Amino acid sequence: QGNPTPYEAIGEGLLHKLIDVFYSNVSQHPDLMPIFPDDFTETIRKQKQFMTQYLGGPSLYTEEHGHPMLRARHIPFEITPRRAEAWLHCMSKAMDEVGLEGDLREFFFHRLDLTAQHMINSSETDE
Ligand code: HEM
Repeated sequence: QGNPTPYEAIGEGLLHKLIDVFYSNVSQHPDLMPIFPDDFTETIRKQKQFMTQYLGGPSLYTEEHGHPMLRARHIPFEITPRRAEAWLHCMSKAMDEVGLEGDLREFFFHRLDLTAQHMINSSETDE
């Protein structure tokens, strides 16, 4: 049957918990609050779909929303280097909080770091 995907290795339960905790951190971060909606229900639902496929699980996001085109979908929001760092900080903290450790964490966080850098669409001085 080959190696498990990162999605299988983390498991749906832990992935969902991670995303819930992550957005709880985001909702309290002063640099991120201004660009997120007050109600995170839909954001959380979409991110669970997206991260499932990002980690090699079923293509839940694409089935409902089409091609992710992540950078394009982030253009309406001012994403500065500072906000990318804040996003990654909230994720690293969430990983600590749910006890995601080891190689799987390193692999996942590294990919998120690359994607987060790619989302930057505004320079600090524009703030
Ligand atoms: C949506 C901010 C990085 C995946 C959003 C939204 C904001 C945002 C404000 C809209 C939320 C809403 O209206 O519900 C940021 C910031 C980032 C960042 C500040 C820092 C670099 C990332 C990364 C990923 C990601 C690294 C994936 C690995 C998504 C997805 C959505 C989303 C899947 C939902 C898109 C949709 O509307 O269908 N993000 N994001 N974001 N973000 Fe990010």
